[in-house]
Amino acid sequence: MIVTINGRSQVVQPGERLIDLINRSGLEVPHVCYHPQLGPIQSCDTCMVEVDGKLVRACGTMAAEGMNVVTSSPRADAAQREAFDRILGNHLLYCTVCDNNNGNCTVHNTTKLLAVEHQEIPYKPKPYEVDMSNPFYRYDPDQCILCGRCVQACQTLEVNETLSIRWEDEHPRVLWDGGAPIGESSCVSCGHCISVCPCNALMETSMLGEAGYMTSLSKPALDGMIDVVKGIEPEMGYGAILKVSEVESHMRESRIKRTKTVCTYCGVGCSFDVWTKDRHILKVEPLEGAANGVSTCIKGKFSWGHINSHDRLTKPLIREGDQFREASWDEALTLVARRFSEIKAATGPDSLAFISSSKCTNEESYLMQKLARAVIGTNNMDNCSRYCQAPATAGLFRTVGYGGDSGSITDMEKAGLVLIVGSNTAESHPVIATRVKRAHKMHGQKLIVSDLRENEMAERADLFLHPRPGTDLIWLSAVTKYIFDNGLADEEFIAQWVNRADEYKKSLESFTFEMASERCGLPMETLTKVAHMIAEAKGVCILWAMGVTQHSMGSDTSTAISNLLLATGNYMKPGTGAYPLRGHNNVQGASDHGAMPNYFPGYQDVADPAIRSKFEKAWNVTLPPKPGLDNHMMIEAIHEGKLKSMYVFGEEMSLVDSNANYVADALSKLDFFVMQEIFFSETCRFADVILPASPSLEKEGTFTSTERRIQRLYQALEPLGESRPDWIIIQDIANRLGAGWKYEHPSQIYEEIAALTPLMAGVTYERLEGYKTLQWPVAEDGSDQPLLYTREFNFPDGKARFYPVPWSEPTDQPNAEYDLHLNNGRLLEHFHEGNMTYRTEGIREKTPCTFVEVSPDLAGERGIQTGSWVQLTSRYGKVRAQAVITTRVHGKELYMPMNSTDEAVNHLTSSHTDKATHTPAYKETSVQLQVLGEIGADPLPRTNFRHGHPTPKTGVEVERKWKRKDYRQPGDYLVQIQNARP
Ligand code: SF4
Ligand code: SF4
Ligand code: SF4
Ligand code: FES
Repeated sequence: MIVTINGRSQVVQPGERLIDLINRSGLEVPHVCYHPQLGPIQSCDTCMVEVDGKLVRACGTMAAEGMNVVTSSPRADAAQREAFDRILGNHLLYCTVCDNNNGNCTVHNTTKLLAVEHQEIPYKPKPYEVDMSNPFYRYDPDQCILCGRCVQACQTLEVNETLSIRWEDEHPRVLWDGGAPIGESSCVSCGHCISVCPCNALMETSMLGEAGYMTSLSKPALDGMIDVVKGIEPEMGYGAILKVSEVESHMRESRIKRTKTVCTYCGVGCSFDVWTKDRHILKVEPLEGAANGVSTCIKGKFSWGHINSHDRLTKPLIREGDQFREASWDEALTLVARRFSEIKAATGPDSLAFISSSKCTNEESYLMQKLARAVIGTNNMDNCSRYCQAPATAGLFRTVGYGGDSGSITDMEKAGLVLIVGSNTAESHPVIATRVKRAHKMHGQKLIVSDLRENEMAERADLFLHPRPGTDLIWLSAVTKYIFDNGLADEEFIAQWVNRADEYKKSLESFTFEMASERCGLPMETLTKVAHMIAEAKGVCILWAMGVTQHSMGSDTSTAISNLLLATGNYMKPGTGAYPLRGHNNVQGASDHGAMPNYFPGYQDVADPAIRSKFEKAWNVTLPPKPGLDNHMMIEAIHEGKLKSMYVFGEEMSLVDSNANYVADALSKLDFFVMQEIFFSETCRFADVILPASPSLEKEGTFTSTERRIQRLYQALEPLGESRPDWIIIQDIANRLGAGWKYEHPSQIYEEIAALTPLMAGVTYERLEGYKTLQWPVAEDGSDQPLLYTREFNFPDGKARFYPVPWSEPTDQPNAEYDLHLNNGRLLEHFHEGNMTYRTEGIREKTPCTFVEVSPDLAGERGIQTGSWVQLTSRYGKVRAQAVITTRVHGKELYMPMNSTDEAVNHLTSSHTDKATHTPAYKETSVQLQVLGEIGADPLPRTNFRHGHPTPKTGVEVERKWKRKDYRQPGDYLVQIQNARP
């Protein structure tokens, strides 16, 4: 398709907007409200061009064959200028003293592009106050140009539906929940609106008074300077004023550093630039991350208080009796090496065990397993995927061959139907949730949610299932059986691609709808509807998380999910597949890089002599042939007196492992325990030596997200005090034990990984430079696989396998004494136990403590109200918490978030595990509830978004603006604003 632009022919790409084509052609046309990731908003009118002699908005027009486009004609120029003049009527240009004067302000840059010297429509402030009620950002109506980008982002990209503009108002402005203070609205502080705002109307409070050389002046002084600027404008014109501000902007470059990093929290893998001035974190700017674009959630955007927290560990600590004393690195490392050697000599290498951090880098996990295997000589090596993700991996290994998401986030967006099982996606994987919410709201995607809680995704779903706890395997298998029995299966796909179909179909015999309905408590009509929706959808993606995996049948239920996808042919194509949503930022990478008891990096079997010999040759050692202890077995081995020493980095074992009292008891029995942490965590209490480590912003390396996406993080800050990056500490310990490692940079570690690991053969730091990413498997030539199984499944014959899975009763069932079911999970604002997020003041303010959700029915029955203190007692421990009465939970089911500074939910959970992987059955917990009689304030303060009232809209709804009496499309009157001046 060919379009002529200013007399030159341009080839159009399919589905291309005129504005994108113009930009691609290198021509400059103003476009203030247009943002490629938001689509056309059409509110600013600055992109007016002539198409076949008619003025149109370039952002709102699709390029079409034969179009004759003129971007700069008297009419187009006049329209662009008039439109922009209206914008300046809403915005005071005081760039030199503006914190947004950083070279990327759209209003500033458009003033320059259009060479505006004077404005026709005078600036008029709006009759509203600046809103400072959110701890993370502020809105200044006087600077707001009403472009609507923020509204579009909130309504159609984040889909939190907080923002709107009431175009009919005399003085429109952006509204939160239709007019509430930001801090009391439904705003989840995700930052989308701020990240897309083209000027300084929405700004991070961490930027205010910090970014510029003169922006920290007092208000009167600042107002005085602004008056001076406005005073000289008629005389000098904006050109001269902008020049001054550009000099100031260039000066900022010498002190503001922008560093690309990857989020340290969840497995979505958002990447962004972090802006720092010395150690001050000015802001997080998401731009072009492969997983997230401009998206973030509250944690990635704002939760960085842990970096400069006053209680960071900055010196090694050594236990002396019940106390710790500061020590030099030399003393601490010498002690660690000496004790490890002594213990190894006395009780053998298998009396030591190692836990790698799923928050740290791939290179660090690689070094930790190399230390365990090659230096100490044990396979006692694990990471926290044991707590959550191992069952999903097992289910996929059984059926399709790779232990990772079968596609990318873009596949979830493309699917005709998304089925979410046991995942509170909107809070645990917020940016993935935005993609599903967007597809559902804007593009007609269907959504089914199965969960105990009526979480946000459940509220939005076309169909919400609330099965009895621990029965997902049953309804999933019953739906699969129905699909087979009613000719709805993809028999052609099965015949070509899946083994063991007959055996599997036979195994489904007992999973009738009658049985499923009775066991799961789901109506048969609902199950029928689910089956038909799945069978009829154009592409199904199933997303699941800890609501599935943290059960005694976690692996089997994950397998049932994959079986269902195979039965319906929902693999091998875009918009299909299995998506176990990985929890921690690098939980996928920790396992991928060998922090497991049975696998070298890339899931290469430690028991396979050929593989072992490859590593022995490369590392020049003899390696232990037997798989080691996993996390769960380590705790048992300590209690049995077999395990004497542990080295753990970046894991809060004593709070996040199930049956925390039992785990704490074990840790206290260790002869020698080394913790490597950024804070003095609960687990540190049991340590003999504590080594101060550096968080993500203080080091380089790579993380692998849930999409199997490997991304580089760059160092933004120097390590605080004497803290050191984990890879340096691990290397120091190895070398004191005689290893002779000589890594000077994480890239050298990755070279070794790639050489030994076929799954990562083509991964290099060059191929991951900046925002470039790779999704494993990566071939030697650097080609990767965003969508797995496009050619075959990962088994020797290239075929997938149905894998029959029976059902058994969950453990720790309620009885007369422990009569309530206790569920648990993450909260949007906090990550996991909250060790990092509690150190951000604004997050603490909005979610200061943990709580327990109680259904209105149960609350009525037991006389509980929001704020009531209750004690929960399980068969393993007790905790006290305040109640929140909510319809999110039903009947006799309670829910407690995992984040807690003291009363952790894992004091209640058991030591039961998934049979195949030893993942604790956290979600199978029964408790009794005692009302304590005290009533406090609501544990969710008024400023928590859960009290807000969203205002769903289709977007900016610019048509309402166009209907205003005072609106006319610019350019109709050929007003030559600049040229009309004498
Ligand atoms: S939820 Fe809040 S921070 Fe996020 S886009 Fe909406 S208004 Fe902005
Ligand atoms: S606050 Fe919203 S409407 Fe106002 S300028 Fe920023 S993005 Fe545009
Ligand atoms: S926590 Fe997850 S969703 Fe939020 S910004 Fe970080 S990676 Fe993205
Ligand atoms: S960029 Fe086209 S109307 Fe704003």
